[in-house]
Amino acid sequence: MSLSKPLDTASTQTPTPHPTTRSGARRILLWDLPLRVFHWSLLAAVTTAIVSGKIGGDLMGIHAKAGLAIVGLVAFRLVWGLVGSTHSRFSHFLPTPARILAYVQGRWQGVGHNPLGALSVFGLLGVLAVQAGMGLFTNDDIAFLGPLASLVSESWQQKLTGYHHQLANLLFVLIGLHVLAIVFYARAKKDNLVKPMVTGWKETPLGESTRGGGPVVFGVSVALAALAVCAANGVFLSPDTPAAKDPAPDTSVTAKTADAADAAEPASAAASAGASQTTAPAW
Ligand code: HEM
Ligand code: HEM
Repeated sequence: MSLSKPLDTASTQTPTPHPTTRSGARRILLWDLPLRVFHWSLLAAVTTAIVSGKIGGDLMGIHAKAGLAIVGLVAFRLVWGLVGSTHSRFSHFLPTPARILAYVQGRWQGVGHNPLGALSVFGLLGVLAVQAGMGLFTNDDIAFLGPLASLVSESWQQKLTGYHHQLANLLFVLIGLHVLAIVFYARAKKDNLVKPMVTGWKETPLGESTRGGGPVVFGVSVALAALAVCAANGVFLSPDTPAAKDPAPDTSVTAKTADAADAAEPASAAASAGASQTTAPAW
């Protein structure tokens, strides 16, 4: 197999690179196989994370695993955006002001993500990265500590948990817009974007088949993604890493806090005890 040939089993079925159809449009390989597997795996992982996060309780272990899977998928996509096949590279669809203006004025022509679609791609990937990143430092005040929570103080754990709840709402909006845009393209523009995201192939008079992104760069991307998952899961933390503490100006303050904790309801007292434990993740 050629090192620069995109990873796609279907690509071996076409004798010529661009067979033409009756309408004059050519059939090109738009999305390589790794990108498609990435997309549908991301959909599955994000759905699992949202449902399990909302239900909470016993599902927090599954939530954390889905979150770590998202860390790996987003890390893979970041590397693939630099070294993957041509249409998957960020440079191919960077939403520069000139490209956005051309798109809005109806002058943009090309294959792959259009400039507005590209904004949504970067928005989704960015929000998912931050959401998963904050999740690693969460503390649900019951029995759950994110795998990197011991690196920050308890007050930061609380803050990041709050932001984690809030950012989920922005994620819902972005996913809603993403799906609406796809429905709009199918209904109003009669452009089925889903089919190429499933099969890889698109019939279009524009552009060329995607190139590059062979097995070697794929292997490197997967290895780097696996490394990111290990780091996110605290694998590289020393077992003796002490829990970061909030600054305590003098001992009387600490004593007061302890008194208050004694007086508080049992669940929250148990939570502060759990949160001040050190590195062990809750699953
Ligand atoms: C949790 C929900 C979803 C998330 C987080 C998500 C995320 C993404 C991302 C990040 C991309 C960019 C792909 C790339 O990396 O280049 C993308 C593209 C795409 N997604 Fe989704 N997606 C979701 C749900 C869906 C659903 C339900 C569908 C349709 C059934 C869908 C169809 C597509 C299509 C067709 C594209 C390519 C758009 C284009 O041609 O520009 N996605 N999605
Ligand atoms: C992109 C990945 C993630 C998504 C989409 C996500 C989404 C969510 C959602 C929707 C909630 C419920 C918020 C609410 O009820 O308003 C939640 C809660 C939570 N998530 Fe995540 N999460 C992700 C990653 C993580 C990770 C990696 C961890 C830790 C390993 C984590 C830990 C938590 C905790 C502890 C809560 C419950 C907080 C509480 O109830 O006090 N999340 N998450």
